[in-house]
Amino acid sequence: MTELVRTREDLAKARAAMTGSLGVVMTMGALHAGHETLLRAAREQADHVLVTIFVNPLQFGPNEDFDRYPRTLAEDLAICRRAGADVVFAPSREEMYPEGQPRVRVDPGPLGEDLEGQSRPGFFHGVLTVVLKLLQLTRPDLTLFGEKDYQQLTLVRRMARDLDVPVRVVGVPTVREPDGLALSSRNRYLSPDERKAALSLSAALRAGAEAADRGHDAGEVLAGAHRAFGAGAPGARLDYLVLTDPDLEPGPVSGPARLLVAAWVGNTRLIDNAAIRLAPRS
Ligand code: PAJ
Repeated sequence: MTELVRTREDLAKARAAMTGSLGVVMTMGALHAGHETLLRAAREQADHVLVTIFVNPLQFGPNEDFDRYPRTLAEDLAICRRAGADVVFAPSREEMYPEGQPRVRVDPGPLGEDLEGQSRPGFFHGVLTVVLKLLQLTRPDLTLFGEKDYQQLTLVRRMARDLDVPVRVVGVPTVREPDGLALSSRNRYLSPDERKAALSLSAALRAGAEAADRGHDAGEVLAGAHRAFGAGAPGARLDYLVLTDPDLEPGPVSGPARLLVAAWVGNTRLIDNAAIRLAPRS
């Protein structure tokens, strides 16, 4: 049985009834197999699973897709039921932000200004603010985030550490289509031609990982990834393609690393990333 709650009051009642450990998966809805994997991982690791569904206005810029972001609550509930979620919390905007825009927001620090934060100013202030609010409202033992949004996962981990939030943050590997495209709620915006162009992102990551496996250095890995991005079907416009350390800290990289890519395909912005293992510097 999956219970749908829409208010803080009903959430508090449902929370009080959960006696064992709680795993929380936060989403903006339009659920797909990537989200479902998070729910199933939560099911395995906790006694109870709570899913939040909320399209958070705070993390959308003025020219972004807040209004057209897909809202599919009936289908989402069916997926939550299938994956064995106990509770779905789907609040209205007024329920989450009763006084309108919150004046106090979580400052994501320097990493919040980089990569996604550079292309989307204020994005991570909005993300971390809603994540912290949802953590306070649900008080989970663990919360699961996808590696698909690697910078988000890294910043949520940092926030839990830096602000002493008593929760275990669990990262879950990216779920992909058979051809490599990372699942995303935004994939449903893509036309058939754009869907082909979108493969440039995963192709770049694959080429980079293969170059690293062949023992190439950071410069060659990046060059190979750039070549593979450009060799894909036309239509993808690169925003960034970077090789960093696994915690996204600045500085030279060697050994375990992360390759991250963002690109525009038509009016849709897509991101992806992969673990890379560079040869250790001798
Ligand atoms: P949303 O994009 O709905 O993603 C919800 C969670 O699902 C995130 O942790 C995301 O990384 C994960 N996810 C999405 N696609 C995935 C895939 N292909 N494989 C594995 N996990 C995937 O991320 C957000 O919502 C919001 O920023 C949120 C954290 C809910 C705050 O509003």
